[in-house]
Amino acid sequence: MFLKSAILLPEYIGYLIFAKSRHGTHSPFVYDFAENVLYNRIDNAIFYDIELIRQKMLSSSALIQVDDFGASGKKKYKAPLPRLVARSSKNSKYAKLLYRICRYYQPEIAIELGTNFGISALYQAAGLTNGKLFTIEGSRKIAEVAFFNFNKIGFGERIQLLHGVFDKALPALLEQLPRVDYAFIDGNHSKEPTLQYFELLLSKSHNDTIFVFDDIRWSAEMQECWEIIKNHERVKVTIDLFFMGIVFLRQQQDKEHFVLRF
Ligand SMILES: C[S@@+](CC[C@H](N)C(=O)[O-])C[C@H]1O[C@@H](n2cnc3c(N)ncnc32)[C@H](O)[C@@H]1O
Repeated sequence: MFLKSAILLPEYIGYLIFAKSRHGTHSPFVYDFAENVLYNRIDNAIFYDIELIRQKMLSSSALIQVDDFGASGKKKYKAPLPRLVARSSKNSKYAKLLYRICRYYQPEIAIELGTNFGISALYQAAGLTNGKLFTIEGSRKIAEVAFFNFNKIGFGERIQLLHGVFDKALPALLEQLPRVDYAFIDGNHSKEPTLQYFELLLSKSHNDTIFVFDDIRWSAEMQECWEIIKNHERVKVTIDLFFMGIVFLRQQQDKEHFVLRF
């Protein structure tokens, strides 16, 4: 992880220099997003409860069996829970952004690919008022810990956890849903599968569906994947936050790609 960050450092410095703030955006829609979502650093007591769950896992002595389906290939291994949490869960800065996206746009049908231990799912669900978050995790033991975490918090019933590999679980879920209002793609950071999930999700998307892609600079192929997504005919507005990319389909917008400082 350190190595990856070090490799990305020059690019990240370039991002910090050239990325715009809300005042550099001429699009009223993107300005509204920047003002009310990106830079609206609201605090919420519920964050405390979620961070307590993270802290408990970080100080646990449990060893967890991992079925790894990620970009590094399929394998099984055991690893200490704190190490897995520190490596994979969104940090509070990005998790709070996901919360604010859900809180502001209020998707009723939200999907997350990559539950892990449920930290980002809890943040997103905290932002939903009438919505439900369907979150998919392939690693059984990890999913069990997430399920336990969801039951610790009152709004856990806004989350439906599905255990399965994305390739199978996502099409099966989509078959049962009338539409998708929001999707956070945070698992299997490789190009072809990510594009495949995007196309599947697009089949149930509408004008106001929002997509959030994590780790758009994870690798050269993820960067390529992000470029393909930006150029997709259904995509109108994208917002590049360096580590995360946000996609809007709103056909009334000009096709434009923004890089915003975050
Ligand atoms: C980066 S973690 C997700 C972190 C989580 N969203 C959070 O911030 O709390 C990615 C998760 O996706 C799962 N995953 C990766 N590829 C998968 C696949 N093809 N099918 C099912 N689960 C997968 C991994 O087991 C891992 O738990």
